Amino acid sequence: MITLTTIAALRKEVAVWRQEHQRIALVPTMGNLHAGHLRLIAAAREQATRVIATIFVNPLQFAAHEDLATYPRTPAEDQAALSAAGCDLLFMPAESEIYPHGRKGLTFVEVPGLSETLCGASRPGHFRGVATVVNLLFNLVQPDVALFGRKDFQQLRVIEQMVADLHLPLQIVAIDTVREVDGLAMSSRNGYLNAPERLLAPQLYQTLTALRQRIVAGERDWLRLEASGIAALSLAGFRPDYLVIRRQSDLQPPQQASEPLIILVAAWLGRTRLIDNLLLSPPEE
Ligand code: PAF
Repeated sequence: MITLTTIAALRKEVAVWRQEHQRIALVPTMGNLHAGHLRLIAAAREQATRVIATIFVNPLQFAAHEDLATYPRTPAEDQAALSAAGCDLLFMPAESEIYPHGRKGLTFVEVPGLSETLCGASRPGHFRGVATVVNLLFNLVQPDVALFGRKDFQQLRVIEQMVADLHLPLQIVAIDTVREVDGLAMSSRNGYLNAPERLLAPQLYQTLTALRQRIVAGERDWLRLEASGIAALSLAGFRPDYLVIRRQSDLQPPQQASEPLIILVAAWLGRTRLIDNLLLSPPEE
């Protein structure tokens, strides 16, 4: 695996691959890789002849009070894991390479609507930061396909909308959430949990599966289901941000029971904000 830190070197390498008619897959990450990221690399290997991963802790998607400074950075371990997983190229730029003129006054990409609800409402500007850097990475690499996890379902939808609206010439592939054996969705932020919080954390997923069982059994009072999920989480010791049942397509409240739906949750456990979701029917591709 080659590791590159400059845009010039990245463009040079990718140009050679393009001349060779290689199909290029991109897996953008912020590093501190876990099995969920490696599943994306494995899926990328099946999609393309060349796999590029990026590690960039994008400051644009963190608010001033958030965890940019403490976000876990483990470049040596990440490099070893990516190489073992069959990644061909790691692009790991410094902030000055990506935003050479600083972050102020920077051109940005905004996906309205989808970016303003749920995590976007709690973290204003977050999805603007995500869309901007993902679009920038797409411009640098010009991949044929890019892979994202369904764990960040709203992020996935925002990126799909951006790709559609801007007619970007690539395919987005979504990959299922990878979970610990106790059900907790893998996330770099799980490392923030202390021992008692880590024991409690799987209740987030258990709450989602309990709600799904009630829906499968025929309950259709979405507001009542949402309220009981929030109550269960509060009782367990979480501070729920939201727990909602939405349409998979646009994350708006359901109109008809036949629409593909998803339960989405965000909740604080101590100083850690966890998110998770559960599809109530097969994903809409
Ligand atoms: O999901 C992430 O790790 C980040 O939001 C992404 C897509 C790499 C953009 O910084």
